[in-house]
Amino acid sequence: MTIRFSQTWDVFHHRHRLTLEREVEQFLLDEGRYDCFPSLNYILAELAGNADKANLKRAHFQQAGLDLTVPDQYSRGMASFKSAVANSGSTLALVLRNQGAHIKIWFGREEGNLIFSVFNNAPMLPIEISRFQEKVKMARQFHTIQEVMDFELDQSEGGGLGLIITVLMLRKIGIDESSLKLTSSAVGTEARLVVPPLAEQGQEILATSVVEAINQIPQFPDHVLKILRILEDPTKSFVHIGPIIRQDSSLIASLLKAANSPLYNLHRPVESIDEAVAILGLPAIQEMLIAVTAEKLLVSTYHRAAVQRIMDHSLEVAWYCRELTKAAKIVDNAANVYVCAMLHDFGEIIVNALVPGLTDRIAELCRAKGWNSFQAETLTNGFNHSLVGAALAEKWQFPEKIVEVIRYHHLPQEASRKAAPIVGLVYLGDFLWQKARDLVGWDDLVPSVLETFSHKTKDEWLETFREVLNKRRNL
Ligand SMILES: [Fe+2]
Ligand SMILES: [Fe+2]
Repeated sequence: MTIRFSQTWDVFHHRHRLTLEREVEQFLLDEGRYDCFPSLNYILAELAGNADKANLKRAHFQQAGLDLTVPDQYSRGMASFKSAVANSGSTLALVLRNQGAHIKIWFGREEGNLIFSVFNNAPMLPIEISRFQEKVKMARQFHTIQEVMDFELDQSEGGGLGLIITVLMLRKIGIDESSLKLTSSAVGTEARLVVPPLAEQGQEILATSVVEAINQIPQFPDHVLKILRILEDPTKSFVHIGPIIRQDSSLIASLLKAANSPLYNLHRPVESIDEAVAILGLPAIQEMLIAVTAEKLLVSTYHRAAVQRIMDHSLEVAWYCRELTKAAKIVDNAANVYVCAMLHDFGEIIVNALVPGLTDRIAELCRAKGWNSFQAETLTNGFNHSLVGAALAEKWQFPEKIVEVIRYHHLPQEASRKAAPIVGLVYLGDFLWQKARDLVGWDDLVPSVLETFSHKTKDEWLETFREVLNKRRNL
């Protein structure tokens, strides 16, 4: 057995969770099993949280002078446990320390199996073991997170939902709940997870209804694709796109409208295409073509309000991206970043049309439970907005980089080296959108993203983020 990480903590704090997350991430990268990261990261945090809760529970009973093993005292203690943690968590932590309570987490490899162990030094009571088994049994009946959300959970004992999600996460990486074993002895309780080498990754396929929906959406018009290709080609210039634009009256209207917008502050009307093209410049034309055409095609299929909602979000994310691009002095790709930011979430329009309210309900559940919404979304079985959006971008023959941004904007670590900076910027733009609404904390940032931009330290970046957020607030 090769132990890769081993750590003992008296309690399991948020900062311990972050340490664990980073270590697990590196371990799985080194083992070539990064595909399991979202699931295993969730499961380990869940198990460690439960181990911590088990220890806290004992401290609470001791503090309240109650005996865990006496049934009526057990129910009394449990009734006051939640509020005791909320009100006097630090006193309980002190009791824990005095009792020598601890949690030990380790992981490593043994003959190709990856082993993860979470131990806490409190033996489980028979009632707790049977509750655990009951919950696992109940968890087996669920197959997707939609089913879980539709089910009225009895949360009186807590922890049930977390365990159901754990079982779903295990299935997602191709293993079943029998690979997670709980054993209790006089010295404590261990949850041990064995991930076999041949566990087949739960394949990320799109739901049939999603594939059908994407088929219904019109193709990106040929002449727009042609213009985009010319814009990408450094040997071509304005003269090559003028004749193509002239064939499309709605494109002419959009270009003239943009060139006459107050942004350019010209004191005379712009009436010719050539002049409009010269004023706007190639990057702006490219941005406009992609974003305007995509919006038009989506509005032709979906409710305008649904498209508008995503566009409003994307416009703000694009604004953050533009500011970050300036601040990071990333000159190359500035236009692409904007386009990518405008398009990053359009998969959500399709998902919301097929399963109304799914993304909102997931977000709500995640806020309540402190989960990462992307992890929860991997359990929707084919309704993941990033994958849906990437499939549409592929159908529309978008450049590979844009497809990658859409696919990985919540998992920037997975992007290819070539696309990493642009994926990172859109991820950060989206992160600032959430930060502006207090939906995330700075600790939630994926650390490897900032490393992509090596010319700034983490503190310098945080300073930049604060400035950008302030600027937005004062708009
Ligand atoms: Fe997203
Ligand atoms: Fe987003």
